[in-house]
Amino acid sequence: MLAHAKLCAFKSLTLQLRHYVAADVWRTELDSSSWNQKYAAEELLYGETPNEFLADMITVLPSDSKIFVPGDGEGRNGVWLAQKGFQVTTVDSSETGVAKAKALASRKGVSLDQQLGDLTNWSYPQAEFDGAVLIYLHLPASIRAQVHQNIAKAIKPGGVLILECFHPDQLSRTSGGPKNIEMLYTSELLRSDFAGLLVPHFEFEGEVQLQEGTGHSGVGVVTRLVARRMA
Ligand SMILES: C[S@@+](CC[C@H](N)C(=O)[O-])C[C@H]1O[C@@H](n2cnc3c(N)ncnc32)[C@H](O)[C@@H]1O
Repeated sequence: MLAHAKLCAFKSLTLQLRHYVAADVWRTELDSSSWNQKYAAEELLYGETPNEFLADMITVLPSDSKIFVPGDGEGRNGVWLAQKGFQVTTVDSSETGVAKAKALASRKGVSLDQQLGDLTNWSYPQAEFDGAVLIYLHLPASIRAQVHQNIAKAIKPGGVLILECFHPDQLSRTSGGPKNIEMLYTSELLRSDFAGLLVPHFEFEGEVQLQEGTGHSGVGVVTRLVARRMA
């Protein structure tokens, strides 16, 4: 009787685990395949020029230093940073995005470490980078805080994070961004994600004019952050 109950409990646990693993794999595959579809055209969805906020803030990054660019997509920001002389590591889960980013780097004649990987299970180095650049990396609520903390921990003490994303007020607009309120961030949410790791130096929430390919075009509501890694 007891052996039977134990067997049933074991079977139920195995089924739950299988369901969990399948859902997790499905979620990851769906994400990267939907980004592959978005990047299918030859032209770059967000254009070739870097994000304007990143370009404005470039002087906060120490020259020639090591910069981490998670979710670099088709490579416009990582490649531009490499052209500026930084040692750049990028990670993105879209095969098509990474292939296009590598082609862009080759066209521009720069070399950088462009990795295909999922930020939910990537092997993050600790205190490795002088800066991290997060441009429109919108993640599901279930993984966002953990990924943000892993990225912050990969920055050296004193290093800098530059971030731009869409604000929840962007939800009804057509100028870009996810149509899921949970994937849009306020300054307050980011402060909470990075608490104990990063100190905010500059915060902004408001409208900006976006001219980033066909992907981000028109007036958008964004959240911007520059923060420093605590000692
Ligand atoms: C809106 S695009 C922004 C691309 C780039 N940062 C830019 O501004 O041009 C978001 C990118 O995040 C990537 N991404 C989303 N979830 C990811 C994850 N879990 N791991 C790695 N990359 C991810 C997508 O593949 C996509 O390329």
